[in-house]
Amino acid sequence: MPSRRVFLKMVGLAAGAVSLIPARLAQAKKVGLKLDKVAELQKVGGWAIVPIKEETVLLIRDGEASIRAMTAICTHKKCKVAYLPDDKRIRCKCHKSFYDLDGKNTDGPAPAPLRQFKAELRGEQIVIDLG
Ligand code: FES
Repeated sequence: MPSRRVFLKMVGLAAGAVSLIPARLAQAKKVGLKLDKVAELQKVGGWAIVPIKEETVLLIRDGEASIRAMTAICTHKKCKVAYLPDDKRIRCKCHKSFYDLDGKNTDGPAPAPLRQFKAELRGEQIVIDLG
């Protein structure tokens, strides 16, 4: 197997598992995820939490051609966060922390922002840089 090829592990989502996809990307820390394998991200406002390598990544489709990626783990006591499309905010239900779309902690006990990852849509693929 070529060293540049990166394979995602099986990705489990609420809607069901999605398949592995290979990505021929220039850097090993970049991973590719086929957009058609994550139904929640096919429309603007959709979101999903996807385990990728050692990260649990919150993906938010915030525009026709844009997507955001950040850790889905709250900086307070490590609960999973969720996106609130109507409020355009991210919430942790455990102790009611809120974050903005840039991952900045805005309310509640969370002491720090959510770590951001560069992400972009390239055709039918989401490319996420975990570096
Ligand atoms: S774990 Fe998220 S607010 Fe406490």
